[in-house]
Amino acid sequence: MKPQDDKSSREARRNFLKTGALAGSSLLAAGSIVGRAHASENGQIRVGVVGCGGRGKGALTNALDANPDVHIVALADLFADRLHETVVSFSKHKKYSERFDATAENCYDGFDCCEKMIAENKLDAIILASPPHYRPDHLEAAINAGLHVFCEKPVATDPVGVRRVRAACELADKKGLNIVSGLCWRYDAGVRATVEQVMNGAIGDIVTTQADYLTGPVWTKSKQPGESEMEYQCRNWYYYTWLSGDHVLEQFIHSLDKAIWIRGDVPPAKAYGTGGRELRDDLTQGNIFDHFSICYEWADGTRTFATTRQYRGCMNQTEDFIFGSEGTSKLLAHTIDGPKPWQFKGDKISMYVQEHKELYEAIQGKRPRINNGGYMCDSTLMGILGREVCYSGQEISWEQVVNSPQDLRPAKYEFADEYAPPSEVPHPGRYRMPLA
Ligand SMILES: NC(=O)c1ccc[n+]([C@@H]2O[C@H](COP(=O)([O-])OP(=O)(O)OC[C@H]3O[C@@H](n4cnc5c(N)ncnc54)[C@H](O)[C@@H]3O)[C@@H](O)[C@H]2O)c1
Repeated sequence: MKPQDDKSSREARRNFLKTGALAGSSLLAAGSIVGRAHASENGQIRVGVVGCGGRGKGALTNALDANPDVHIVALADLFADRLHETVVSFSKHKKYSERFDATAENCYDGFDCCEKMIAENKLDAIILASPPHYRPDHLEAAINAGLHVFCEKPVATDPVGVRRVRAACELADKKGLNIVSGLCWRYDAGVRATVEQVMNGAIGDIVTTQADYLTGPVWTKSKQPGESEMEYQCRNWYYYTWLSGDHVLEQFIHSLDKAIWIRGDVPPAKAYGTGGRELRDDLTQGNIFDHFSICYEWADGTRTFATTRQYRGCMNQTEDFIFGSEGTSKLLAHTIDGPKPWQFKGDKISMYVQEHKELYEAIQGKRPRINNGGYMCDSTLMGILGREVCYSGQEISWEQVVNSPQDLRPAKYEFADEYAPPSEVPHPGRYRMPLA
């Protein structure tokens, strides 16, 4: 994904202006912010956002809520309509418009939108909230350009992508940059306090854990007339393994991350599992599974029994149960049961705001530098491992997934039918994960 030349980039923005209803709006009258002083000169933290969907828009409001010096100065999205919608809603927003400085001039679309935004704006930090597949490209571009990063989960959809992200995070250390992960439960006061209790022995030794993420389906998008298969998959990204990693990675990563966290960030040794597609019987629902049940085993013999599914009209439950030699804990309920019962009773601010608060305070030197790279890579790999043991029906070790050559990138990033990756549903027993 190389940046387009200046001419095509200017053209894309002109088109955006023409097609968007922004022309003539008060937003344009407010003028361009190009050339405004850099953070180091006037104390502002200039933030660009990649991926203007639900999370990107949520994260930008969290950033503005978290720190008065944050200004949102540029936006990038694969689709111009998403950029347009974001600029229109925030430029007039009662609460956020004052520090929402992005105009049509600072909006970038296309597969190289992130690179163009970085090249053409003096940014201090970037929010990465596109679908997971693109994260390695976006994170590499951000770190190479010396930006601090808020990085949504997961960080890749295949092991090759995870290795690229890990290398970028190591480079961030060398450059003194901050990386905060969107694995938000690590920033929740109640979960933090409960994990601390567990890790300090409040329930004795960890014997086993159970992770439940039993929930309903998410949105789907139907194919529009004239839309290429590639564009369709990109808009309906959740349902394609190459783009989302499957919901066992995209959504369940929150639970898998807690299973690694309470073990001091030691990853499992191996896993096996079962899964399939019980209710996804419609073509808008791509090639992902709708249920997974995985047994992760650690070198010390402890296990995590992990179950996730997306069914409509069923009992739902999301909780992390920890069974210890001297009691039990529910991480999301923030409780310890057993001889030493305990319940978190402290104050909480939104974990989504807290993660940004800590990022910008670290950028401002008000707290030590943060790099969440290690656990965001390991939790992503844990989701990929869970997916692959269920897709294949085989046991796979941590070493095998770490070193796997699996690379889900398409031959070319272009909106044409022939570049859409194949989307067969994996058949356990026949499908194999590529191993080194
Ligand atoms: N931490 C959390 O609690 C949480 C919650 C929701 C989503 N997320 C994560 O945030 C990310 C986005 O999810 P969402 O719910 O906002 O999805 P969404 O579909 O609402 O938004 C994704 C946006 O990214 C854009 N996009 C697609 N390809 C792109 C590319 N190559 N470059 C730039 N932009 C691109 C889309 O057009 C869309 O506007 C995912 O990784 C998801 O897992 C995290």
